[in-house]
Amino acid sequence: MEVVIAPGPALARLAADAIEALLRHRPDAVLGLATGSSPLAVYDELARRHAEDGLSFADARAFMLDEYVGLPAGHPERYRNVIDREIASRVDFAPDAVQGPDGLAADLADACAQYERAIADAGGVDVQLLGIGTDGHVAFNEPGSSLASRTRIKTLTRQTREDNARFFDGDLDQVPTHCLTQGLATIMSARHLVLLATGRGKAEAVHQLVEGPVSAMWPATILQHHPHVTVLVDDAAASRL
Ligand code: GLP
Repeated sequence: MEVVIAPGPALARLAADAIEALLRHRPDAVLGLATGSSPLAVYDELARRHAEDGLSFADARAFMLDEYVGLPAGHPERYRNVIDREIASRVDFAPDAVQGPDGLAADLADACAQYERAIADAGGVDVQLLGIGTDGHVAFNEPGSSLASRTRIKTLTRQTREDNARFFDGDLDQVPTHCLTQGLATIMSARHLVLLATGRGKAEAVHQLVEGPVSAMWPATILQHHPHVTVLVDDAAASRL
């Protein structure tokens, strides 16, 4: 596990560098996209490099980590719409090149199984961007998640719903109670994991991620077993290391 401590803008550039190096070398690479506020500066940087430096996503594919269950198709916080807004629509992905779990499927378990097959059929994810929750969750693998889990339906914890209420006018009641999420084993199958965390609120989670014992109670700790992880943190997020 490589841990880089640097100011936020430098972290975003480093994450974008990893994606750019991959795409320049292999234009048809498979990217893993994350939601939350942590990757937003990375998406800004990638959009800038697309506009100014000719970085192309035209032959690439991408898979999202997770999705809320039941948010209407047009809801701005539906992760599919967030990813379209923050990155997919700002670069030149081909139509249908970006996929996410279908949180509106009639059969959610089947949608999860189909999603796992789609990732496998694409040859797996080359670079996966990740954030981390204040309770150590990755994607929506909350504390107690099986370290061997695959894409499935999960109940969101109150902590995560409170953390994410800021995206729903601060109204906890508007935050969905369930989600579909890649499992920890799904995420561990990606060939390179790039995790970003900034701010003091992430310090305990980053401490556990880097220095804690591997435990389902801090799901991100499973990353210690991955052969190629880059952890990008600012001073505040690194303050407990
Ligand atoms: C959500 C997402 C995670 C993300 C986490 C942290 O729960 N499902 O993928 O890592 O929030 O979000 P933020 O980056 O906004 O702190």
